[in-house]
Amino acid sequence: MLKSRVLDRHEIEAAIDELAGRLNRDLVGRDPVFICILKGAVYFFTALTTRLKQSVVIDFIQVSSYGATTESSGTVTLVKDVTVDIAGRDVYIVDDIVDTGFTLVDVLALVEARHPRSLQVVALLDKPSRRRSRVEVAYVGREIEDRFVVGFGLDFDERYRNLPEIWEFEPDREG
Ligand code: IMP
Ligand code: MG
Repeated sequence: MLKSRVLDRHEIEAAIDELAGRLNRDLVGRDPVFICILKGAVYFFTALTTRLKQSVVIDFIQVSSYGATTESSGTVTLVKDVTVDIAGRDVYIVDDIVDTGFTLVDVLALVEARHPRSLQVVALLDKPSRRRSRVEVAYVGREIEDRFVVGFGLDFDERYRNLPEIWEFEPDREG
């Protein structure tokens, strides 16, 4: 069930505005490729990239790690690979939330193997207290407590992604 609202529309927009502001300064003189990690980052990704002042190339990658649980399995499977040539490009990986960091470590390794010129991570949310791997996230929208959240792309067992706000979620105890 949905417990309490963590970020309302206004707070989400403000976080994305701030990230876009930083990126617009940092992207000057770069030739960026923005890669959305499907599916969770998709709402964040469109909001973020439409705030960027220069033309950027976009692409999508999909990995899977969670089932009907709020814990990461610790192993990710590549479901859909990128299609643009990222060799020599400035690559920005866009993720919904960084939790243990296991997913990102694997995605970064996959992308690094294609020899980008630079590689950075942009995440809407970060749960730093949960981190179990060393991964650098250069751009974080908002840090949150160790709570499982849904909405604005984030799911529990594929549900709640289309909620316009971000809510704390607690799975029902029976089934
Ligand atoms: P990690 O590998 O533990 O860092 O988990 C990263 C992925 O797990 C994120 O990209 C999300 O898809 C999912 N995830 C982590 N925490 C949450 C949460 O609180 N709500 C929904 N999905 C989450
Ligand atoms: Mg997910």
